[in-house]
Amino acid sequence: MKGLILSGGHGVRLRPLTYSQQKQLIPIANKPILFYCIQDLIDAGIHSIGIVVGPNKEQVISEVTAQDWDAEFEFITQDRPGGLAHAVKISQQFLGDDRFVMYLGDNILLGGIKGFVDDFRRSDAKASLLLTKVDHPEQYGVALVNEQGKVILQLLEKPKNPPSNLCIVGIYCLTPEIFEAIESIKPSWRGELEITDALHWLILQGRSVTYDLVSGWWKDTGKPEDLIDANRLVLDALPGMNGNGACLENVKNSTVSGRCRIGKNTVIKDGSVIRGPVIIGDDCIISNTYLGPYTSIGNSSVLSNTEIEDSIIMEGAAISNTERIVESLIGKNVTIERDGRLPAGSKFVIGDNSNVTI
Ligand code: TTP
Repeated sequence: MKGLILSGGHGVRLRPLTYSQQKQLIPIANKPILFYCIQDLIDAGIHSIGIVVGPNKEQVISEVTAQDWDAEFEFITQDRPGGLAHAVKISQQFLGDDRFVMYLGDNILLGGIKGFVDDFRRSDAKASLLLTKVDHPEQYGVALVNEQGKVILQLLEKPKNPPSNLCIVGIYCLTPEIFEAIESIKPSWRGELEITDALHWLILQGRSVTYDLVSGWWKDTGKPEDLIDANRLVLDALPGMNGNGACLENVKNSTVSGRCRIGKNTVIKDGSVIRGPVIIGDDCIISNTYLGPYTSIGNSSVLSNTEIEDSIIMEGAAISNTERIVESLIGKNVTIERDGRLPAGSKFVIGDNSNVTI
């Protein structure tokens, strides 16, 4: 089987971050979301992976190819975000006659996809979907299923009266029959070729479309709060995070407790308190600072006289003398400081579509 990861799209809901960064490269526990998808495919025994790239394709290509992976990659350029089925359609040459897993590059899942993919390998279904129970099915694509046969009877996009609480997770096992389905559908009201329409077409044709249920958690990281939430979940589950791990020799006159991963050449000093789960990248200087649970700090950040909790701080941050920062998502090379000069007041230089809560 092959893999197809969708790493295009504009990521409008994550502006301003996505003006300069491709959404799937935003780090969760200091690792791009996209890397979790790639690893899940490799762990499921898939070593030939196509990545659909869009607006910031150079970034995606250079980040992926800078790592050592047990997989070969082909990058497929999508000239506009024409929908999930459009992304599949333009990948037909790469996918050929193989069955494949389509993985939305902004989805993150605990426990991987090996069981799901193995079930599909053994079956003769034409497509299989991962589903999960949610509290507000009206906000998602929803499936009506026949529980005994694990067959999907109907798919609906954000229905007003959902027939079930099973929502469609962004990971699909597909066969080349999907190309015939995509040829047979029309763009939706939003002008996109929808994968749910193509799958619905298969169901109407009587082709078998099955499902598996997600056993752990799943997160679609479309909005800032989803990223903060995903960061919490990954930090909670990250194995081997240990306060007695690497580089504690650089902890001076400070307290590190709970599960913390501290990078190379990072110095923690001057009465700092780090309370895990926390991950701190390489080459950081943390002085007289409190880092509370569920915080990720990117490489080369300098933090002093500050408090941060439950946040994602990307590389190159310089943060000093602030009040406690909570539930925040801070891009690369950002400076935040209190300079203490009078008259007191807040001074901002903030890009379009930013959100500030004081
Ligand atoms: P979406 O979350 O539906 O779209 P988006 O990422 O552009 O975000 P927004 O709605 O905030 O603008 O996309 C789901 C995933 O699929 C995401 O990883 C981007 C990817 N994608 C493509 O690669 N090509 C496409 O044509 C579309 C629609 C999405």
